[in-house]
Amino acid sequence: MGKCPDCGTWDSLEETVEDASSLQDPQKSLTMAWAAVGEGAGAAEVAVASPARALAKIDADAAPLERLATGIHEFDRVLGASGSRFGLVPGSAVLVGGEPGIGKSTLLLQAAGAWAGQGVRVLYVSSEESAEQVAARARRVCGVEAPKASTAQEESPSSLRLSVSSSLYVLHDTNLARIVEQARKVGPRALVIDSIQMVYRGDVSAAPGSITQLRRCCAELVYLAKAANIAVLLVGHVTKDGQLAGPRLLEHLVDTVLSFEGDRSHSHRVVRAVKNRFGTTLEIGLFEMTGAGLREVPAGGSIAALSDKDHPRPGSAVCPIITGTRCLLVEVQALTATGFLGAAKRKSAGLDANRLAMIVAVLEQHEGLRLADRDIFASSVGGLRVIDPASDLALLLAVAGAHLRKPIAARCAAIGEVGLDGRVRPVPQLEQRVREAARLGYSLILTPRARESFPTPPGASVVAVADVDEALQHLG
Ligand code: TYD
Ligand code: MG
Repeated sequence: MGKCPDCGTWDSLEETVEDASSLQDPQKSLTMAWAAVGEGAGAAEVAVASPARALAKIDADAAPLERLATGIHEFDRVLGASGSRFGLVPGSAVLVGGEPGIGKSTLLLQAAGAWAGQGVRVLYVSSEESAEQVAARARRVCGVEAPKASTAQEESPSSLRLSVSSSLYVLHDTNLARIVEQARKVGPRALVIDSIQMVYRGDVSAAPGSITQLRRCCAELVYLAKAANIAVLLVGHVTKDGQLAGPRLLEHLVDTVLSFEGDRSHSHRVVRAVKNRFGTTLEIGLFEMTGAGLREVPAGGSIAALSDKDHPRPGSAVCPIITGTRCLLVEVQALTATGFLGAAKRKSAGLDANRLAMIVAVLEQHEGLRLADRDIFASSVGGLRVIDPASDLALLLAVAGAHLRKPIAARCAAIGEVGLDGRVRPVPQLEQRVREAARLGYSLILTPRARESFPTPPGASVVAVADVDEALQHLG
C-alpha cells in the first residue's frame, strides 16, 4: 500500500520485522532484565501481576506523591503540585517538545543542574552533543565551576564521566541498551534523554527517528521509569507546524507532555503543559533566553515590550489574559490590506484562526464593515499563543481600528469575549485582570457587564460595554 489507511499520508509506511523476543510483554522483558541483575528496587513487584482490588480496599493516601523540585519556580509550577509541593513526580515520564534551537537542552540541563545541586542524582544522556560540550554548557548555565585536573577521573572506560557536579552524570550515547545499562550503574532519580529522536534499539531494524524506533524506545523508557522509579524526561523535536516529529503517539505513552515555545527571534520562552497526569495544564512558565541560559520571568513581568500606551497606533489593542495562576498583558495587532473578493486572506500568528474569522464576521454583520475583499492579518506580540477568549474584544478593536485607521483611546485595555450576536460576554477572573491592567498603567479598562461588582483600582476607570457597538466608541 502506498497510502496509510489510518492517517491518509503517502509513502509513510515502512517495513518492520518483529523479532521473537519483542513479541513478549515488553514490560516483562525489561523488568526481568533489571531484576536479574539483582539491583532493581521494586522490579520484582512489577513483574508479578497484581490482583484486581475493590476500590474501597485501595488506600490512595498510602503513597503520597513525592515531588522533586528544581527551585526554578516557573518550571516546577508547570510540572504540577501535590498540596503545596511543586515539581517532578519520581517515576513519571515527561516529554518536552519544542522546535530545534528553542532551548530545550538548556532548560533540561538547568533543571538537571538544579536537582544535582540538591544532591539528587541525575543522568543526562545527550545523544546530540558530546559530554564535553554538555559539560561546557553546564558550567555556563548551571553556575558550577570546572573540576580540578586531579579529580577528573574516569569512572569506567565508557563515555560516562564524573561531571562538573558530583551528582550530575553526563553520557553521550544513542544506543538504548547501553543507556539503560549506564542508568542501572549510576542509579539516578532522574534520567534526561536529549533527544528521543536520536536514540535507537539495536534489535529494531528501522532507522533512528523512525516511527517504529520512536515508539519502541519511548515505551521502553516509560517502563524503565515505572519499574525503577526513575523520573524520565525525554526531549522531542517538533516540526515548524507544531507536530511532534514522528507521531503524536508518544504523547499517549508518557505522563506529562510539556511544550516549549517561543519565537527564536525573541528572547522570551514559554513552557506549558499540554497533558499532565500529575497537575493542571493551565499553568505556564515564562523564561527569557540570556547569554547565561534561561532566566525566569517573575510574576508581574510581561512577555514582550508593549507599544507606547500613551500614543497607540491603529490596529493595536492590549488585553490581560489569564494563564493558570498568572495574569499577563498581551498586545494584539491587526492589519488589513487590499485583497481579492472571494480569495481574501485571513492569517493569524499566536491567535486562533477560527476566532479571527468569527470576529471578522461579527464586524461585517453587526457593524457593517466591508472586510470581504480585505486581507486580514492578526498576531499576538512576542509570539505567545493566546487561547483565552477574553482577548476577543482586543482582537476586534485591533481589526476594526486597522480597517478604519483609528487608534484605540490612550491607556486603554480591553477585556471580553465576543459573542456571535455582537454582545460582549462576561469572562472569569475579571477583577484580577482589571487590577493587573491598572497596575501596569492602563487607566481606561473596557470590560463586559460584571456579574458581581468589585472595587475599582485607584487611578483607573472601568467602563462596562454591553456590545461591540459600544466598544467601538472608544476608537479614534
Ligand atoms: P538549545 O538548548 O541547544 O536548543 P534545543 O535543545 O531546543 O535545540 O538552545 C539553542 C539556542 O539557545 C542557541 O541558538 C543559543 C541559545 N542560547 C543562549 O542564547 N544562551 C545560552 O546560555 C544557551 C545555552 C543557549
Ligand atoms: Mg538540544
